[in-house]
Amino acid sequence: MISDSFRVTEYERGEKILLKALVNDFAQRILSLNKYEQKVNIDRLVKTFGLSKASSVLDFGCGTGLFTPLFFRYGWQYTGYDVDPSLIEFARRMYPLAKFAFTKDELARWAPFDLILMNCCAHHISDHDLNMELREISEAFLSPTGIFVMIDILQIPVDKDSFLHRQFMKLEQGRHVRPASQYEDIVSQYFIIKQSLTWKSHVLSLSCKQNPFFNDMIVLVGNAGSLSKQNGPLQGG
Ligand SMILES: C[S@@+](CC[C@H](N)C(=O)[O-])C[C@H]1O[C@@H](n2cnc3c(N)ncnc32)[C@H](O)[C@@H]1O
Repeated sequence: MISDSFRVTEYERGEKILLKALVNDFAQRILSLNKYEQKVNIDRLVKTFGLSKASSVLDFGCGTGLFTPLFFRYGWQYTGYDVDPSLIEFARRMYPLAKFAFTKDELARWAPFDLILMNCCAHHISDHDLNMELREISEAFLSPTGIFVMIDILQIPVDKDSFLHRQFMKLEQGRHVRPASQYEDIVSQYFIIKQSLTWKSHVLSLSCKQNPFFNDMIVLVGNAGSLSKQNGPLQGG
């Protein structure tokens, strides 16, 4: 029989976990002005894919699901996946109509997806693990006509940078921020890269030259498939 003190301890643990997720969510919303700039950029990009209303999207490494409302707007089936169960628990409470998973078994029930977005997640993952994740995404989660999008922080040569921007870059916590060529090398092993773009992502979404607090981002858009199909068109679900 479960004792009352065990129940209280479990309850307190749950509260602490949700508090951690709440702080994460709040900090991200404040720092990025609710991801305004990234949402505008992602919105512009995904509209070019011409996906139908019946499409499904997987937000891989979704955190607390800050992009959930954006994808809901298109009427798509949205699924968020993150390895951190506390963030998923929080996201489930925030967006009860969306699907969220923190295990691959659960995720597999909703696969395949027409679009998979991996936003600001890869720079938290080592080369070895990223290869494993991308292999699994390409083999088990992306539909054969699906589109894969990786957006992540770029490592840029420090001598080209302003002093304030260099200090800002030091705050970045991900241990695997890479130069463009490294992201491309890894992604191209599993997807046919159709577009390679760069964006900036500014603190408070203030996209003006005077704002030194920004990250340079790489945007890679790819199709599932083998390298022999490399010259084909960009396909959407
Ligand atoms: C900087 S946050 C980005 C969250 C969200 N994509 C966004 O842009 O707001 C990185 C997220 O990636 C998640 N993550 C790290 N490694 C992961 C992995 N191997 N699989 C899934 N999620 C992962 C972390 O738990 C974290 O929530």
